[in-house]
Amino acid sequence: MISMGAANHMKAPRKLLIIRLVAFCLASVLCSHAQGLKPVHAQKAMVVSVHQEASQAGAAIMRQGGNAVDAAVATGFALAVVHPAAGNIGGGGFMLLRKANGEVHFLDYREKAPKAATRDMYLDAQGNVIPKASLVGYKAIGVPGSVAGLVYAQQHWGKLALKAVMQPAIVLARDGVRLTYEEAQFMHDGELANFPDSKRIFQRNGKFYEPGEIFRQPELAGTLERIAANPNEFYKGAMAHELAAEIQRGGGLITEEDLAAYEVKERQVVRGTYRGYEIISAPPPSSGGVTMLETLNILEKYDLGKMGNRSADSIHLTVEAYRRAFFDRAELLGDPDFAQVPVAQLIDKKYAEGWRQSIDTAHASDSKEIRRPSGFGELDRSAALHAPYTGHESNNTTHYSVVDPEGNAVAVTTTLNDTLGSRVTAEGLGFLLNDEMDDFASKQGVPNAYGLIQGPANAIGPGKRPLSAMTPTIVLKDGKLFLVLGSPGGPTIISTVANILMGVIDYGLDIQQAENAPRFHHQWQPDEIDIEKNGISPDTIKLLQDRGHKIKQQGYWSDGECIAVDAKTGELLGAPDGRNGGKAVGF
Ligand code: GLY
Repeated sequence: MISMGAANHMKAPRKLLIIRLVAFCLASVLCSHAQGLKPVHAQKAMVVSVHQEASQAGAAIMRQGGNAVDAAVATGFALAVVHPAAGNIGGGGFMLLRKANGEVHFLDYREKAPKAATRDMYLDAQGNVIPKASLVGYKAIGVPGSVAGLVYAQQHWGKLALKAVMQPAIVLARDGVRLTYEEAQFMHDGELANFPDSKRIFQRNGKFYEPGEIFRQPELAGTLERIAANPNEFYKGAMAHELAAEIQRGGGLITEEDLAAYEVKERQVVRGTYRGYEIISAPPPSSGGVTMLETLNILEKYDLGKMGNRSADSIHLTVEAYRRAFFDRAELLGDPDFAQVPVAQLIDKKYAEGWRQSIDTAHASDSKEIRRPSGFGELDRSAALHAPYTGHESNNTTHYSVVDPEGNAVAVTTTLNDTLGSRVTAEGLGFLLNDEMDDFASKQGVPNAYGLIQGPANAIGPGKRPLSAMTPTIVLKDGKLFLVLGSPGGPTIISTVANILMGVIDYGLDIQQAENAPRFHHQWQPDEIDIEKNGISPDTIKLLQDRGHKIKQQGYWSDGECIAVDAKTGELLGAPDGRNGGKAVGF
């Protein structure tokens, strides 16, 4: 907690900041009205996220002279306050940075399994998965990486002081944010009530927040102030002690040693091309970049544009490509520090040609029958050794995209895994902790629901990072920044980002139209096409069924939050996703 003296000392800059924010809100109105049908235009800088206040925080920081990294860090901390369903300091994420000079960095601040984690920790004596054990409560928590990642980015590439970029989040936590209907609703979550601090903070001990009420989080404000003053405290100081003690009190495994051992990793991005555009995306432990590039490589030889956007022909071929890329994902991808992931082979265009030969343009393949093309060394052997993993994957998470006046671009996808994570709030610290342990394959060596033995690449192991689908992506056209893409949605992240990208490149849509276009997804197993409810016409669905596809219509689809650069004018085009209330703020 800050002292009274310190609190008074902070009043003047806080007031100034609030005045600046209000002035900025007014100035930004022109750039943020009528969001949803057309992209939001801005001349210099843009932030697109799921929440107005978070986008506003990032844009305000750029107005103060901060760059895209400063803005992304400000937006990230603000989301931890205003979007507790997925924005976080108790989870993890990936940041993709492309500087205006072409330099690229990828930060992995994914959660890690604690040292005491074991492969079978979620199985009972009979070898069955214990329901919810990896999803709800203290044992589901992975060592959080978000604070380390955001601070690392700020210290390496930011221009402003950490305190300055965290200030909007601190103000939002202390002064509160007005709740929308949806925000008030998700706090009714039944599991939250099982954890006293979660029940007190998010459910006011049963007197639920109403839409329009101000939601204040003074404990979180105090925590953010402590991090701003000394970011190491989260991992090595008093805060680490408090956090570990709280998790262990509840029966979790994370110790102070685990927190002290957490490290952010800079990883090599995966790169590829699609119809002449350059794609830069997320490497393992994300499956996102590899699976998307594999899909695009398979599709590159088909003239999707000629077949037409969301026609039965184009959906059929796209689904067949997803089926094959997700098959590889299920078996071969995991934490590269623990498993050998054959990235180069998976994103090789010759390998895609091999897959293409097995696609029937008139009939759906049967997921049970597909076989990996032979003649690809490492990949031939692995198919004989293991069979793929399939299991539950959460569909929450959040993404934000930033471009600054110099042309630096940042794409961040961050998560607690499920909506509201493990539902555990760290006592006295005021933030929710993740349930990222569920992104591991809980059960090994036993046939799953599809009669397959689960592959070991994503088995639980101490210090290991669970496989992710998060796909922050940057696309270049003629070597210049063109698209900044990303989405939440578990495995549908990959198809959402790929579908948006194809929307622009194959079907000539603008970035907002591409984001708004009805979604579809296939992930090898279950063997069905998920289609956004009421998105695709019944005639098209019938044509797909006639080819042998099973169709499942879904109501919930997550929000891409993307930016495009107009190649002719250089203007920034922000595409907030109406599906989850996204907001673009630019100037
Ligand atoms: N927890 C969602 C993901 O990492 O893909």
